Amino acid sequence: MRIYRNISIYAIYCTQSTRIKESEVDTCMIRINPYRPGAGMVPAYLAGRQDCIEEAVHVLEAVSVGFPSRSIVYYGLRGVGKTVLLNHLETVAEELPVVSEYMEITERGRSFQQYLALAVYKLIHQLSIKQQIAEQAKKVLSILKAFSLKYACGDVSVEITLDAAHGISDTGNLENDIMEVLISLGQAAKSSRQGVVLFIDEIQYMKEDELESLMTALHRLNQKGLPIVIMAAGLPKIAKIAGDVKSYAERLFQFVEIGTLTAEDAKKALTEPAAQFHVTYEPEALQYMLNITEGYPYFLQEYGKWTWEARKKDTIITKADAVAAFGKFEASLDESFFKVRHDRATPRELAFMIAMVQCGERPCNTKDIASQMGESVQRISPLRAQLIHKGFIYAAKRGAVDFTVPHFDSYLKRMHLV
Ligand SMILES: Nc1ncnc2c1ncn2[C@@H]1O[C@H](COP(=O)(O)OP(=O)(O)OP(=O)(O)O)[C@@H](O)[C@H]1O
Ligand SMILES: [Mg+2]
Repeated sequence: MRIYRNISIYAIYCTQSTRIKESEVDTCMIRINPYRPGAGMVPAYLAGRQDCIEEAVHVLEAVSVGFPSRSIVYYGLRGVGKTVLLNHLETVAEELPVVSEYMEITERGRSFQQYLALAVYKLIHQLSIKQQIAEQAKKVLSILKAFSLKYACGDVSVEITLDAAHGISDTGNLENDIMEVLISLGQAAKSSRQGVVLFIDEIQYMKEDELESLMTALHRLNQKGLPIVIMAAGLPKIAKIAGDVKSYAERLFQFVEIGTLTAEDAKKALTEPAAQFHVTYEPEALQYMLNITEGYPYFLQEYGKWTWEARKKDTIITKADAVAAFGKFEASLDESFFKVRHDRATPRELAFMIAMVQCGERPCNTKDIASQMGESVQRISPLRAQLIHKGFIYAAKRGAVDFTVPHFDSYLKRMHLV
């Protein structure tokens, strides 16, 4: 009974940021670990993204009153908190007169057309529930049906009992067809005085023709003043891909880099979750953990978790605790964060990345990697392209690549070079 009561208090803290009373911190509570390492895991305290959030809220507010705004693409390395930020913005959007759908693109999964068809289907229902737009909704659904039939979007076409509006969104020209579907949705949104937000995670996995078509549609939506915006997140290469497919990418999207946390914010990412339980950190412990994690959010959560487990006293975390926890922190990262990525690489891809480590400095010139591998630049170029496509590395500057996973070089060294 007691555990339940306290756990529910804890859940309230996480959503409303109220602190648990000291008298309610009992032994059951102390066993709860307040840190959340893991892909997309909502942290107990979202540190240091206030500026981004404020900027995004302006965009959401504008679209909620019918003004289309520049869409946003957040980009950054693995584990910096892009997904968590998008999820947070989704909850902000729920409080506004906007409807939204979230999609996560996978490397080898459905086509974008399939994700889009399902999202538009759900969005038009959300719009209709909030406002009477029966005729508009029918129009969108019949256009969507033709689109779904053309692009084999399975379930969606079966669900729509209306006749397909052939000849609008099923021409076979992807740019035209995606545009027609989104324009019909935008018109319905405008009639219902609501905005639409499409959240797209892992946008770098969209195929080039899909991204190009989406950007053309967005351009047209802006020209027509229709209230749809996109909030997306992806690896750093997305800014370049977008620029390559459409020269006006910068006019459609604000590209916002999500990076490491400042020292002050990184400290808060550690201290705030502990403070809920009236546990504090020795300054030396914080400094030690900051030096090791370099302010990477994923590492802060992981290190925080193991230091919490290792602490000797109930109310204070010392440097000795942090030092003692280091082994488990590193082993846990190796087993989860790094290994899942490492195991997706083929032996040749691994050889390329090990050569990157051996180059010493990063970003690493392709020429130097080739010489480490004892091969020609031409021979290793397809490998380079493959690794970029799979999201292991990115072109950090002309002719030079770096890892998308922070500290992956140290991991590869531990695994393969010692
Ligand atoms: N601002 C933040 N403050 C505290 N912790 C954070 C913050 N942002 C992210 N985290 C934590 O970092 C971890 C990684 O977050 P997230 O999955 O959002 O990263 P990502 O950038 O989407 O990574 P990937 O590119 O691998 O998808 C999670 O454990 C999350 O709780
Ligand atoms: Mg993510």
